Amino acid sequence: MELTLEIMFYVGVAVFVHILVILFVMGKQKSKSICGRHVVVTGGSKGIGLCLAVECAMKGADVTVIARDEKMLSGAVALMEVIRQRPEQKFQFRSLDIGGDYEQVERVLGEIEESVGPIYALINCAGMAICGVFEEVSVADARKLMNVNFFGSYNCTRYVLPKMKKAGEGIIVITSSQAAMFGIFGYGPYAASKYALRAMAETIAMESREFGVSVTLALPCDTNTPGFEEEEKSKPRETKIISGGGGLVEPEAMAKAILKDALKGNFISTVGAESWLITMLGGALMPWDGFFTNLLHASVIGPLRLFSYGLHKYFNSVISKCAKEDRQQKALKEEGSN
Ligand SMILES: *[C@@H]1O[C@H](CO)[C@@H](O)[C@H](O)[C@H]1NC(C)=O
Repeated sequence: MELTLEIMFYVGVAVFVHILVILFVMGKQKSKSICGRHVVVTGGSKGIGLCLAVECAMKGADVTVIARDEKMLSGAVALMEVIRQRPEQKFQFRSLDIGGDYEQVERVLGEIEESVGPIYALINCAGMAICGVFEEVSVADARKLMNVNFFGSYNCTRYVLPKMKKAGEGIIVITSSQAAMFGIFGYGPYAASKYALRAMAETIAMESREFGVSVTLALPCDTNTPGFEEEEKSKPRETKIISGGGGLVEPEAMAKAILKDALKGNFISTVGAESWLITMLGGALMPWDGFFTNLLHASVIGPLRLFSYGLHKYFNSVISKCAKEDRQQKALKEEGSN
């Protein structure tokens, strides 16, 4: 039964991805240009953020990277120097400690604007992951997750958005996660912080369109970054089995897709068939491309509801199996100590 579902799913996905590709090639959207414009990337010293900074530099933008670690930040600037496109292109970094206050963010972004110019695009990439079964994640870590992931993006966006609306142009990227599409074992407060970002992105996208500001919600799956390595350490084995099936995407590919969607003004940015499917099912009320894409979504969402049923059945069987193993292990240990 599971195999049939899986085959059905892959055939279906293959057919529709092809149709989507045809539609996209036919309906070429205009892209905005960031050449000579000021782009700020938070979390720009490593991972997807660094790749995005490099992509922007390659497109001729003036780039400011913000993160905590000065050494890594100067490395990011050095990397951009290597691929400089125009002699007058400006690259700089600012070290900003998270967990400060809004005034600090306001001051740093203000200084950046003074030295390079008004911010045309804000790419929020700073984030962290701590996994674990709900009661295993400390209260302090839960607060930290919410502050870094949600308030980090909130504070920067809060400063920049009113100015962009006034200027009548601008791009905001908010990096959430596939974990904002449905709750998964072991993601507790992390998923909550990513859901919060998703909600914020949906709201400000609706509020800002009229003012010429586009908002893009990036929904990456597992990506091969230093942050992911860190995350793996705290992941319960159930989580590894459940979310490990999707494989790893390289950060360069993710960054390219995010920037492309941001420049086209697309609200959703995902990579791969699996993320596409989960986003479609988990976010069926989100604005996503034009009428024909939505018509396609409408025709597959119904049958694919069965796929989500199968998925949950599978997840529950993994969780039961792990719990059974734990009980056996415990029993063995007790026997040994007697
Ligand atoms: C955002 O601003 C609030 C309010 O000043 C502050 O409590 C929080 O620590 C700030 N968070 C970040 C990540 O800048």
